[in-house]
Amino acid sequence: MMAVFKKLHRCIPKSSSFFRAPGLTAVRCRERRSERSAATSASPPRDAFTGHAMLRHLTSKIKATGPISVAEYMREVLTNPVSGYYVRHDMLGTDGDFITSPEISQIFGELLGIWCVSEWMAAGKPRRFQLVELGPGRGSLISDVLRVFSQLRTVLSGTSVSVHLVEISPKLSKVQAHNLTGEQNQVSSDKNATVYRRGTTMSGLPVCWYHRVEDIPEGFSIFLAHEFFDALPIHKFQRTERGWREVMVDIDPEEQDKLCFVLVPAPTLASSVLLQADEKREHVEVCPEGGVTVQRLSNRIAEHGGAALIADYGHDGVKTDTFRGFRGHKLHDVLSAPGTADLTADVDFSYLRRMAGDEVVCFGPITQRQFLRNMGIDVRLQVLLQNCPDDSTRAQLIQGFDMLTNPKQMGERFKFFAMLAHGRLLRPAAGQGTAKKAPAPLPVAGFTELGPLGERS
Ligand SMILES: C[S@@+](CC[C@H](N)C(=O)[O-])C[C@H]1O[C@@H](n2cnc3c(N)ncnc32)[C@H](O)[C@@H]1O
Repeated sequence: MMAVFKKLHRCIPKSSSFFRAPGLTAVRCRERRSERSAATSASPPRDAFTGHAMLRHLTSKIKATGPISVAEYMREVLTNPVSGYYVRHDMLGTDGDFITSPEISQIFGELLGIWCVSEWMAAGKPRRFQLVELGPGRGSLISDVLRVFSQLRTVLSGTSVSVHLVEISPKLSKVQAHNLTGEQNQVSSDKNATVYRRGTTMSGLPVCWYHRVEDIPEGFSIFLAHEFFDALPIHKFQRTERGWREVMVDIDPEEQDKLCFVLVPAPTLASSVLLQADEKREHVEVCPEGGVTVQRLSNRIAEHGGAALIADYGHDGVKTDTFRGFRGHKLHDVLSAPGTADLTADVDFSYLRRMAGDEVVCFGPITQRQFLRNMGIDVRLQVLLQNCPDDSTRAQLIQGFDMLTNPKQMGERFKFFAMLAHGRLLRPAAGQGTAKKAPAPLPVAGFTELGPLGERS
């Protein structure tokens, strides 16, 4: 595996051409901003329309059926097909509600691209290679990954690579299609089609869009999910003297146009089935949709080979109340003006690991700082800086690097978690008495410490 990683390091020119021109990070951000302005210019002001429509919808629902779970609230607010936050907004970037690592620096996506190729090579270079991303946002991460694939075209030659994107938002899928294919894509006329949009990327690869993971064709796949799981609906539970009770959303009895949290007096189906018997915390958030998604990926990987890399803010089963909203890069009350702000909760990686089961081998979670350093981000920054004559661009490169890796910024809050097929780590002598505490025989890029030239440090 180390040889594979070294080879990748050698194959990728360590010159400004790999990172495009020095300073591209800043230039590309400007391009994205103007694209986004064009895409959103026709949208109505979000408070005037979306907030009121969504609040009306939620209050009628609660009046009809009683308080709703936080999971149902989150699902409606984020992905309601008419007025959901993700369905109506392009929320990413400096003009939006939040910014993500792939939008901050292209180095991020490029290192993940190396990870994908490295895992494909470690799996014995299967002839068919499906690159899958869940929740691709503006398509920035997958674009950066595909640029690495283009740079490594000799390594990938003879391999049939295809791109598969799982995206619930028609608005964002349009932005992704524009960024990846220019105009070379079509929307399906069949409303029930599993592939709702298809096209050809700028580098000539077939790309398809789906609403659900289960619609992706079977076959060797590398799955990427960056800030996807934190957007999936969570249930919230509170320990009380009478046992666990679920937190629900109700209409505020004192102000009929406001919502409030309530505790249901009796156990719900969710509180009966989603909590661990030995749970120690007083307040717990569980994301069953995330669990089911991880199970699907785990089954796919076990059956057809491949790997999944999940990156998100999260914890290993220790945090309690992490549900929060973001609007205009500021914290926002989760129950106020629903549909106008992003809703999110930290990912519980211990839960994902449990749901992945024994069918795959799990790595992590490790911090983003650790993962990116293991992937060689320090070396790449140095190469960029050496090739960059312009002081302001150098400052931007350093700032982006700092945001991604500084423990006080995104370096420690964000974590990386991987699932691999058991076959990927099989040793010839496995099970013959020497396996006791030996580490995996083939290092997994990013989860194993590497020196600057790909050596174990
Ligand atoms: C927080 S954004 C992250 C975007 C991107 N991965 C990034 O890091 O810049 C979440 C993405 O997941 C998509 N998404 C949210 N819920 C989804 C669901 N249930 N199914 C498919 N896509 C979903 C959103 O539309 C958006 O593209």
